[in-house]
This record gives sequence, structure tokens and C-alpha cells, in this order.
Amino acid sequence: MRHEPLPPKLHTANRSRLAKLLPPKSIAVLNANDILPTNADGSILMRANSDLFHLTGVEQEETILVIFPDADNEKLREVLFLREPNEHNELWEGHKLRREEAQKLTGIREIKWAQDFPVTFRQLMCEAEHVYINTNEHKRATAEVQTRDDRFVREVRERFPLHDYRRLAPLMHSIRVVKSDAEIRVMQTACDITAMGFKRVLRKTKPGLSESDIEAEFSHEFIRNRARFAYEPIVATGVNACCLHYQTNTDPLKDGQLLLLDVGAAYANYAADMTRTIPVSGKFTRRQRMIYDAVLRVLRVSTARLKPGLLHKEWQKAAEADMTEELLKLGLLKPRDVKKQDPDKPAVKKYFMHGLGHPIGLDVHDVGDLTKPMEAGWVMTVEPGIYIPAEKLAVRLEDTVLVTDNGPVNLMEKIPIEAEAIEAAMR
Ligand code: GLY
Ligand code: MN
Ligand code: MN
Repeated sequence: MRHEPLPPKLHTANRSRLAKLLPPKSIAVLNANDILPTNADGSILMRANSDLFHLTGVEQEETILVIFPDADNEKLREVLFLREPNEHNELWEGHKLRREEAQKLTGIREIKWAQDFPVTFRQLMCEAEHVYINTNEHKRATAEVQTRDDRFVREVRERFPLHDYRRLAPLMHSIRVVKSDAEIRVMQTACDITAMGFKRVLRKTKPGLSESDIEAEFSHEFIRNRARFAYEPIVATGVNACCLHYQTNTDPLKDGQLLLLDVGAAYANYAADMTRTIPVSGKFTRRQRMIYDAVLRVLRVSTARLKPGLLHKEWQKAAEADMTEELLKLGLLKPRDVKKQDPDKPAVKKYFMHGLGHPIGLDVHDVGDLTKPMEAGWVMTVEPGIYIPAEKLAVRLEDTVLVTDNGPVNLMEKIPIEAEAIEAAMR
């Protein structure tokens, strides 16, 4: 583990939240992610399975969690199966969790080795009626690769064809979207590490460097603070910033250009998602400043709207109306563009074509049902932007913000965003 372990009571509380959602006689099974291969004998760094991590804090490969709140044998109501450590796997791969370490990390008493899974699972299945298994049900996921959970669904249905199989994903989404205080503290850490990276970049940025130099400065702060990039960073100068998922990050920084930085740290697997747009020379031109301030105003008013009960689509619509006004003032839209617009394809989309924000947590685009009203404990990004390829520039600003009953709490409050503050920090 690169990070400090999270408090085990966080994972214990998450398991009880899940257990409360399970109908009587239900068993839930969660699998670790696979270690994916390269094209030769190498492997890609494993990404902890977000649901398994949420419920246990375990990042180790081949782990299986079984939750069966009604199991007759009290000891088997929560069982964690781990890959057994041996000399060979520890020589090549490093330390594997011992039973006592896993108990301490997860708060689970019953730790067994993975080879015991088939026998124990069979016993439990003889008592269970409903079987909750996980699949990736993120609305925008386009996963072609089978996961261990996907394979498990097939295997278990073949071995036990007469049980009632159910979807675990909606239950996990409903608990993960509402963050506990302990999770918010970790997300604040991820935001604070992101801030350190950005402040370093503000000091270093100047014409003559390249986008890769800037990515390296973020990397420097993230790695020494035991974090990683939460997603592939976007470090985009000039017209590159008009490509929403630009990731090449190699072009030279030129005087007079803007530099868009969509970069966030992940600490203990919890993500931060930040975007700032800064002038390479340290000073915005008048035109850049006008566009910048327009985006900042939409960010501010959209952040202020975040509250329990808000519907994501209403929030998006309001921001599009605000942005339309800004684009009219900037002369980018003409009143007639707006008057004759198709409501399904409003004129604003020409310059602001993406979503205003998304839930964030263990995944950057986190799980959570966006057709339901927001609740206290949701953490959302707010990320308006204006993209003008004809002027070879784009401005996007993005904060990570907690929804509470007493108003929004910006976890990136301390990261410079006002144009004057950016210019001052670059001097
Ligand atoms: N960094 C990805 C996003 O802003 O959604
Ligand atoms: Mn985002
Ligand atoms: Mn982002």
C-alpha cells in the first residue's frame, strides 16, 4: 500500500450500510480486479477494485469478500478470502497480507485463504436464497474486457442454477455516492496534494518549457506525497485545450498562449479532479481575461446551486442558460442563434459541449444515480468551460465540491482561481 491505511471503522461502517440493504437470506460476493497482462510477460499495475476497497480497504489481488448477514454460523457472516502468502510470491511480488494484518485493516474477523473458498461458499449457498453479484453498471462504461466478477457470475450460475441472482451494483452505487466524514477527509487530502502540485506549476511555468515539463512537476508532488494521478492528466496549450481528452502533453509552451491543466491526485484511491487555466507568460491578455471571467462566474453560480434535492439535469440546464448569457455578452453567440435554437441542441453546446459535473470518489467519474436528487454527502465536480478552436484557446475551470445541508463546501477552496491570484502566484 502506498498510502496510510484508512481507519478500519470506515470499512466496517460501509459493510453495515450494505448489509442493511440486503433482503433476508441474501449473500453478496465481491471479487478483486485482475492483474492485466502486457503483450509479453509483463503486467500492468493493478487498480484496486473500488467496491471491494470501499468495503474492506484491501488492494491485494485475488481477494474475495463474502457478506451473508443471516448465515447460521455467526463467524461466517463476513468472510474475507486472501491469496495465501508463500516464499515464492513474496520473493517476486513483495509482502502479502497475513491473517492478523487483514483483520486489523478491514475489521473482519474471519480471514481464510483463497483455496478454501469453494468449500465454504458451497456451505453458505445451501442456506442462501438470493445471490448479489457485482457488475460494472456505470452508465457510460464501455467495458469490453471481462472482470473477475463477470467470470464469477458465469461460474456460480452454472454451479448453482436454481438460486435467485440479483444486481449488487445499484446497492453499491447508492452507498458509495454518499460520502462519510472519514471519506471526505481522505478526499480533502487528495485535493490538498493536487493543490501542492498546482502551486509548484504556477512557480515553474514559463515560455520555452513544454507540456511534459509541467506534467512532471505535478508528478513530483504527487509521488512524494504517496499519491498517484487520479486519471491521465491533461496538460494542453493553445488549441490543444480544445480537445477534451487531450493527453499527448508534449508541445512547447509559447508566450501569449493559455495552458489548460486538468489534473488531480488520487490518495488512498480517492480522487480529486481539478482544472485550472493559466497564461504561459504569467499575464492574461484582455480577451483571455474576458473569457476566463465568464467561465469563473458560471463556476461560482453553479457551485452555489449545489444542495440536497437538486436534480443533475436541472443543474446542467441552469448552467447552460447562464453560459448562453455569457456567450452573448462575449459576442460568440448572436441573439438570433439563441432565438432559433433547437431545444435538444441549444446554441450554447457549440462552445460548452460537455457536462457541468459528475460525482467523484473512488472513481473519478464516480458511481451514483443521477436521476435521483442530490443528497448531503455527495461530492460533485463543477466544471464549466468555453472552447474556441478559431481563437486557438479554451478555458475550463473545475473544483471538487461537497454537498451539505448547510451549503456547498469547496474542497479546493484554497487552490488559486481568481485571475489576479493566478497572476500574482506566477510573478
Ligand atoms: N478529468 C476528467 C473530468 O474532468 O471529468
Ligand atoms: Mn471532472
Ligand atoms: Mn477534470
